[in-house]
Amino acid sequence: MEALDNSVLLEAPTGFMPRHIAIILDGNGRWAEQRGLIRAEGHIRGALTVQEIVEESVRLGVERLTLYCFSSENWKRPQDEINALMELLKRYMIEQRPKLIENQIRLRVIGRRERIPRDTLLEMEKTIEATSNNKGLALVLAVNYGSRAEIVDAVRKIAGELSDEESKNKAFEKAGVSSIDELVTERFFESYLYDPDAPDPDLFIRTGGEKRLSNYLLWQLSYAELWFDDALWPDFTKEKLWEAIRWFQTRRRRFGGLDK
Ligand code: IPE
Ligand code: IPE
Ligand code: MG
Repeated sequence: MEALDNSVLLEAPTGFMPRHIAIILDGNGRWAEQRGLIRAEGHIRGALTVQEIVEESVRLGVERLTLYCFSSENWKRPQDEINALMELLKRYMIEQRPKLIENQIRLRVIGRRERIPRDTLLEMEKTIEATSNNKGLALVLAVNYGSRAEIVDAVRKIAGELSDEESKNKAFEKAGVSSIDELVTERFFESYLYDPDAPDPDLFIRTGGEKRLSNYLLWQLSYAELWFDDALWPDFTKEKLWEAIRWFQTRRRRFGGLDK
């Protein structure tokens, strides 16, 4: 039998790249449990995969990488796992800071700041500040993030800004419009989300085999291409990222229209 030619699978994709990749990095806990380790060990290994995928995204010229690190529902987990995750996040912020600066990576964090331990928050803010002028990859970490909470927060901000006649008129004037219907467009609404400058993700990846969105970027993923990989996150590699991108490059995105 002829040997299969796998060489093409081992090469980085060329050609057009997704501008924005959004990932649900799932499967750390199972990776650890399969080895008789505590779940926190899986998260530690998962952080190494984050480093590899961030570096590869820089090499490939991806503009923005949004990673789901901790959901607003993950507070339901045992306290020791939550503590380990927050500690890991803090360590990532300290240890990766020089590398992020060196690679021109700009860090952002989306999600509610409340409930995140002070020391983790402090190191996060330091890294955001230290990388704020970088011009390369935008690395966006979703921490205490929930998409429904993000939408509710946007609605609250908008409602606050339109709560009295004076501020309403100011908003109308600024936008050059004369009614709420003219003012509140999809574009306007998006400008109140946590990462308002972000283009919508082009490619969504979830590892760990589950095929669900788990309250991630519900508004923003409306037209993303969805890729699910059975690999547990610590086993996800740059070659697996290449595979997802290569598949993405074969998609015809119609956005409701017809192929040209
Ligand atoms: C994803 O891995 C990381 C976080 C949610 C923080 P999990 O911890 O969900 O791993 P599984 O799904 O239990 O294997
Ligand atoms: C989604 O994974 C959240 C993160 C990866 C941070 P979960 O493991 O929390 O999702 P469910 O509970 O399986 O839907
Ligand atoms: Mg999970």
